[in-house]
Amino acid sequence: MALARRGGQLSTSRRKRANPHRPALHAAFRSSTLRETVFLVGLVVAIFFVAWTYHFIQLCLDLNTEGGEDHGDRKLPGLVSPERSKIESEARQLRGSASVDNERQSIKRSKATKGGFERFVGIALDLSGLEPNETLHRLDTEDPFGTRNFDKKLMEEETRLGRILTMEEIEKLFPCPQIEERITLPDFRIEAKAKAFRDGVKGTFLFFQHLRKAGGTNFCSLAEKNLPKRAQPRYYCMPDMAWSGNKNAGYLHSWSNEEITRRMKEHRIAGNEWENFDPTRHFDLPAVFATSFRHPLDRALSQFRFECVEDRGCHEKDIHRWWEKRSDLKNIYTKTFADPAVGAKRYFRGSENSQQRRMFMSTAIGTLSKFHIVLSMEWLAYAAPQVKGTLGFKDVSALTTRVRPHIGQAKREDGQDTNALGSASIKKASWVPEEYLDEKQYTKMSEDLALDEVLTDVARRMFLERLVCTDLGGGVPTG
Ligand SMILES: *[C@@H]1O[C@H](CO)[C@@H](O)[C@H](O)[C@H]1NC(C)=O
Repeated sequence: MALARRGGQLSTSRRKRANPHRPALHAAFRSSTLRETVFLVGLVVAIFFVAWTYHFIQLCLDLNTEGGEDHGDRKLPGLVSPERSKIESEARQLRGSASVDNERQSIKRSKATKGGFERFVGIALDLSGLEPNETLHRLDTEDPFGTRNFDKKLMEEETRLGRILTMEEIEKLFPCPQIEERITLPDFRIEAKAKAFRDGVKGTFLFFQHLRKAGGTNFCSLAEKNLPKRAQPRYYCMPDMAWSGNKNAGYLHSWSNEEITRRMKEHRIAGNEWENFDPTRHFDLPAVFATSFRHPLDRALSQFRFECVEDRGCHEKDIHRWWEKRSDLKNIYTKTFADPAVGAKRYFRGSENSQQRRMFMSTAIGTLSKFHIVLSMEWLAYAAPQVKGTLGFKDVSALTTRVRPHIGQAKREDGQDTNALGSASIKKASWVPEEYLDEKQYTKMSEDLALDEVLTDVARRMFLERLVCTDLGGGVPTG
């Protein structure tokens, strides 16, 4: 594989755009004093008008969505509440979207069903503010998202029965929680976007945020089985390989929305593997959004095995030295969805950086809540209903067939090509961190991934709720 390198395309998005006000200003200054004065007075009036209109619109939105609800209980100083950022994002969408009515309805719906989102975000932020060892300890002992307990029972049941479970069996282990206990309510996904994709509306596509070694390749082959040939980029699911003249693939933060939309042409899938998701603008694309998680430590180990042990562009065989060098991999999930400024890693420990960690987590969960599909690699065998319902895919065989990238380069003889055992089988095929790593390294890497542990539990709960709950758009969207 041509290992694409970071940064090659940075210039495309950072290109300076000419200030549209300049010519007008020059013209005004060239003309007579009178015209100059009239122009400046006009400018001041216009600024006042714009500011007032903005204020007025905000007031309307506030009245529309907050009336009568108790607010501020969970709010943190300096933090954008999820409700607020949702309103702002929807207001942004309102300006650019043709389906204004749909957006209004979704704002109304979120008022009608309060759900458990804010409560769970509160828990996640409190966990994130702790020191990493405390974060991990609380996750282990309290399992606040209920996913660890479920996972343990699922593995036991699959192993006992020697097959994946039926929906009834799943529901016995994880019944659909009541509304106030659902992290997926209110539903922040814009269903109109998923529907447009399912309906094959021209220009719409599937934006896949690919976390390395977390099930992305399965997902890509799943998409390829369900899209016509002309809709598939040549290089895996990454159309920007062609846009960059075969230099980079999976670098969608480096391309502006305008460039992405213009260049997609007939392609209907875009994988973003090497760069962060940009929550300030990527949601404005005419796309349905999907991603896949995996246990953070398993993922890290898998990347080490894939790149270094199996010699794909890395020759460091010592995992201690490798992890030291790859500080970019610390809390990589959280960084991917929060898209913080460079240098975020210096806030990952220390009580003085607690507030920063809370902010990263707040943004990351806010981003994730707008993804139409949040998968868990270990549970891919159970993803069919969501993939069919949300994306409209019909052939879901890829979800139960293990696909290994570049299988010819380093074929593994582990007899795990068919995922008949569900999550129990995935576990068997991966390196077990508890066994591969010495205790000190296990602790170090776990702590360096503490925020990702929180985010993964959040993601898994989203997946689970959408699997077992079918009402209120908590699960597969209706209509
Ligand atoms: C976390 O580390 C601190 C400092 O080393 C220690 O005092 C504390 O007991 C640890 N907490 C847990 C749960 O291990």
